Amino acid sequence: MTTQAAGIPAVDDVSDLAPEEMERAYLEYRRACYNIVARTAEERGVFALLTEPATLDTFAERFGVVETKKPVAELLLKALVKRGFVVFDGATYRTAAEQPEPSFDERLLKLATGHSSFEELRHSENYVGIIDTLKVEGIPIAATFDAAHLTVWNEVLQAPFYRYSRIQAVREIGGAGPHLLDLACGPGFGLGELAEGAPAEATVLGVEISDDFVVAATERHAGDARVRVTRGDVTKPLDFLQEGYFDGAMIVGAYHFLAEPHLLWRNAGRLLRPGGVFCVSYVLSKMGTEDQEIMDLRFALRRPVSYPPTRPEVLDLAKAAGFELEREYGLGAWRWYSFTKL
Ligand SMILES: C[S@@+](CC[C@H](N)C(=O)[O-])C[C@H]1O[C@@H](n2cnc3c(N)ncnc32)[C@H](O)[C@@H]1O
Repeated sequence: MTTQAAGIPAVDDVSDLAPEEMERAYLEYRRACYNIVARTAEERGVFALLTEPATLDTFAERFGVVETKKPVAELLLKALVKRGFVVFDGATYRTAAEQPEPSFDERLLKLATGHSSFEELRHSENYVGIIDTLKVEGIPIAATFDAAHLTVWNEVLQAPFYRYSRIQAVREIGGAGPHLLDLACGPGFGLGELAEGAPAEATVLGVEISDDFVVAATERHAGDARVRVTRGDVTKPLDFLQEGYFDGAMIVGAYHFLAEPHLLWRNAGRLLRPGGVFCVSYVLSKMGTEDQEIMDLRFALRRPVSYPPTRPEVLDLAKAAGFELEREYGLGAWRWYSFTKL
């Protein structure tokens, strides 16, 4: 079962695109996001303040950035520098004399997001919050995994560029055998996608830390006896599950929320049979890709906190847990890996 979330217009299924094609569409979307940030910054007076060059401290003073938010203000400036809206000379920032003209391939934007124009996309992307939040203490931008944010998550988790990475993981582990595990399964889209091609005797088990998402996933699959959902922390011992029982496991869009990912690897190493497939999908990473600054800005104020790993960090933990890398790709800073348990 694949559900088209409310608010996401139907698009041709992107799941069959090659990763490089999907990445091209995804990066076009992020380029548009830089422009949306720039327009929002302009509306909030950031460019006017930077007609006179300013250090980070001077900018913070002029704009009224509170002390604790200075690192986020720096991320904002870096994002504006990245696409040429602001110039940095190593010490001071100033508004670029010539502002880049936005021009986007709307076909790529639509492939990535389902939105068919820059303006439509602009209305769905809320950067006003990030910029306004610089002036107040506290963290008013929460996208916590609970019932209060379920509608938003149901949309985000079905956005084409996101769903793409989950579907590739489903395809990767789906062929490994009938016993499949979705670690940090959220409200259960991946469980449905795994069950879609699975035989009658399959076990498709979701482990999820959020009570509300366990309820949502359980309700979503109430009619399918092959699908089960249990509340659990994927970095705590999952002792109630049998060692070596699973043929395949995936974790999609959640690895970067783990403060101690080696504990996830311990679980994966124990629960998968030798030859089993483990797919680590949609990991926000430190890659230095074109979208890095905008992702760093977006995630700086988000709660829960994220811990983006580097590629070597992921590969080292995999190796230490007895996994061999089979395949990988990236959508910008979002990495995707497939491993085999040795
Ligand atoms: C962005 S959502 C992804 C959901 C799902 N994997 C998908 O792709 O549709 C991230 C999920 O990770 C869950 N999560 C975060 N840390 C977790 C942990 N330590 N153990 C289990 N679930 C966790 C969150 O509650 C949330 O549901």
